[in-house]
Amino acid sequence: MTRVFNFGAGPAMLPTAVMEIAQQEFLNYRNMGAGLIEISHRSKEFDEVIDAADSLLIELANIPDNYKILYVHGGAQMQFSAVPMNLINRLPAKKAAYIESGNFASLARKEASRYGNVTVAASSEATNFDQIPEFDPASLDDDTSYVHITSNNTIYGTRWQQFPETGDIPLVADMTSELLSRRIDISKFGIIFAGLQKNLGPAGLACVIIREDLLGHAIPETPSLLNYRTYADKHSLANTNNTFAIYMMKLVLEWLKGEGGVDAIEVRNNEKSALLYDVIDNSDFYLATVQKEHRSTMNVTFNLADNDLLDAFLQQALAKGLYALKGHRNVGGIRASIYNAMPREGCQALATFMQDFEKNNA
Ligand SMILES: Cc1ncc(COP(=O)(O)O)c(C=O)c1O
Repeated sequence: MTRVFNFGAGPAMLPTAVMEIAQQEFLNYRNMGAGLIEISHRSKEFDEVIDAADSLLIELANIPDNYKILYVHGGAQMQFSAVPMNLINRLPAKKAAYIESGNFASLARKEASRYGNVTVAASSEATNFDQIPEFDPASLDDDTSYVHITSNNTIYGTRWQQFPETGDIPLVADMTSELLSRRIDISKFGIIFAGLQKNLGPAGLACVIIREDLLGHAIPETPSLLNYRTYADKHSLANTNNTFAIYMMKLVLEWLKGEGGVDAIEVRNNEKSALLYDVIDNSDFYLATVQKEHRSTMNVTFNLADNDLLDAFLQQALAKGLYALKGHRNVGGIRASIYNAMPREGCQALATFMQDFEKNNA
């Protein structure tokens, strides 16, 4: 069987080596005569898995001691509710500021506005999110409970190159589509969250990294399974958690460590995205959809100058094993999601295909 190069935005391709280990261990985990997903979340075998996931994440992301790692139900969008419920009450004014850099940032802001006084501190909506908006942290009121950003905009293909310095106001970042793809100074953030389904594992669960002093501010009505304190106190096992997702994440982290960790993967991600951006920049046939300085290394978006060729592009790409390249409906065109698991060969194959397609159709 040949595996395609899967450019889907998420759920996204996982390293083949990880899929193979999961397959081998699926029926018979550690010679127990049962699979890991068939045994208790309170078993010593699962304890080892969740402890290993924690330690690997701490090591790979260089997480300081005063942070907790939580595995929270409901994926990334559930955190759009959990973050305001846990943090907007930090100060009596119940204020939160959101930077709108894309669709997920807007959804997060809309959800938060149910819980307090939420403002848009900056937005790039007027230019269809082709850039990260300019934002001056000095413009924030001192009694703001937190500021929310989306660090990498999956749909549009932009990312924050540098993060804003928000001083005493906790910075909350949705890093769903880029956690562990580049070196990030965790200590600059109050909360980081990421749905697992891009760089970490299967969908449905979010990994939350939270500074300890931000626990304990939840509004009283917060369901206990959305209260980050419940997760911190019970090592994410207040109820039956998604043991399979945590196990897969542990395997992905082991793989990443074996690849040389975040610094090595960042170099590879820069090279991979450059293969595609170089084709786009050296052609009038392909049009970049976002400003150069704001480009993501995870989601590469572009259009064909002649949009009538889009279907042919997608069909011929698929015939070459280049899967799921269709852009999001908000942007159109093409999106190549090239998370950590996408090998360099996948980007090279796409770059070559793009050049050939241009030659044949220009
Ligand atoms: C940046 C970002 N935030 C949030 C989400 C939503 O994730 P979920 O479907 O896990 O709720 C996504 C999904 O693609 C995303 O890319």
